[in-house]
Amino acid sequence: MTALDLIREKRDGQAHTDDGIRFLVEGAAKGTIPDYQLAAWLMAVRLRGMTDAETTALTLAMAASGRQLDLSSIPGRKVDKHSTGGVGDKATLVVAPLVAAAGVPVAKISGRALGHSGGTLDKLEAIPGFQVDLPVDRFLQQVDRIGIAIAGQTADMVPADKVLYALRDATATVDSVPLIASSVMSKKLAAGADAILLDVKAGRGAFIATVLEAQALAEALVTLGTRAHRETVAYVTDMEQPLGRAVGNALEIKEAIEALAGHGPPELEALSLRFAAEMLRLAGVPPVDLHRHLTDGSALGKFAELIAAQGGDPRVTENPGLLPTAPVQRPVLASTAGYIARADALEIALAGKTLGAGRDRKDAPIDLAVGIVLEKKVGDPVAAGEPLAIVHARTPAAAANVADRVAGAFTIGAGAAPRALVLRRVTASGVERLDV
Ligand code: URA
Repeated sequence: MTALDLIREKRDGQAHTDDGIRFLVEGAAKGTIPDYQLAAWLMAVRLRGMTDAETTALTLAMAASGRQLDLSSIPGRKVDKHSTGGVGDKATLVVAPLVAAAGVPVAKISGRALGHSGGTLDKLEAIPGFQVDLPVDRFLQQVDRIGIAIAGQTADMVPADKVLYALRDATATVDSVPLIASSVMSKKLAAGADAILLDVKAGRGAFIATVLEAQALAEALVTLGTRAHRETVAYVTDMEQPLGRAVGNALEIKEAIEALAGHGPPELEALSLRFAAEMLRLAGVPPVDLHRHLTDGSALGKFAELIAAQGGDPRVTENPGLLPTAPVQRPVLASTAGYIARADALEIALAGKTLGAGRDRKDAPIDLAVGIVLEKKVGDPVAAGEPLAIVHARTPAAAANVADRVAGAFTIGAGAAPRALVLRRVTASGVERLDV
């Protein structure tokens, strides 16, 4: 068997055998299959899809491409969380310390920015000194010692995802159900948690446009988790507009710090509290007053502990001014009065990427300081001349270059209601509608 056989097989719409999938995943992890062949195979999968059996085989092979953690020495039921990717999605940065502050250990493997979406690892790297590359033993010791670790895929852990993830980002092959499902679930299975909470994003800023398709992805993820004997719950949440107000790496860390201190945007706080409560339930821990952890400093304190343990400067939690800051801040103004009917997450993300907040090549550096902060969200009233958003840019020319795109992301109408954020809850027993 060769990589060429597998590319041809998938190009022609045939299903791979388990052996074929294992060969490919091993070749990706060990570097024996060159990037150009992996990229061609990814595109064939993106265009031709995979059967459920292939997706399961791909997930298990990717999880087995490196070390699979045994967290049993850490007391309690460990719970993990993952999002399928969105714009301004800093929920993990709030939920993980919040849950850890409530006594549930969190051992999380995250990813970098993918396509137009942001990545938790890039965001954390906006904190001066923060290390996302943790050797497995240190990762485990840290979870045992302080109840939380957030690290990236390494040569040790899910190396196949590290390679495929970066290639997908640079080859327009992100938005594929089998590739998203295997990427997310291989990390979750390898990280060894007993239970998994997933946030499947639906809408313009997500990789899945419709609620129906997002629900199908949520069901596929729950099936993969359940078959691997991990209790798995997936929420479908709205990603037509960015989550919260900040889009951009350091800007999102600042907003997460605000939320951890109990004064973040209300919808980010509500979503984080719901996810944290679900994670406590999955951990088998009785409900506690999670809101209190946001107001008494314990969740923020846990974030500071996480930062210090991974080499970062924990003083950012008290003084976000220590985060990288863009020299130029340019408001984008409303041309008419009315109500915000749309704040297009994809357009805002692409404007952020143009500013330098994302990458076009797999090894390109990103500008951690730049981004966009929304002053208005869907349903808000706006007067002519009021700011819709503030562009944080490296230069006045860079800000001017995206100003029209940011303005065009907003639609102002005669009246508009706020959007429902939490749409579905999917478990092994079925689908619950939450937006009625
Ligand atoms: N998150 C991941 O880890 N992988 C994806 O493919 C999408 C989101």
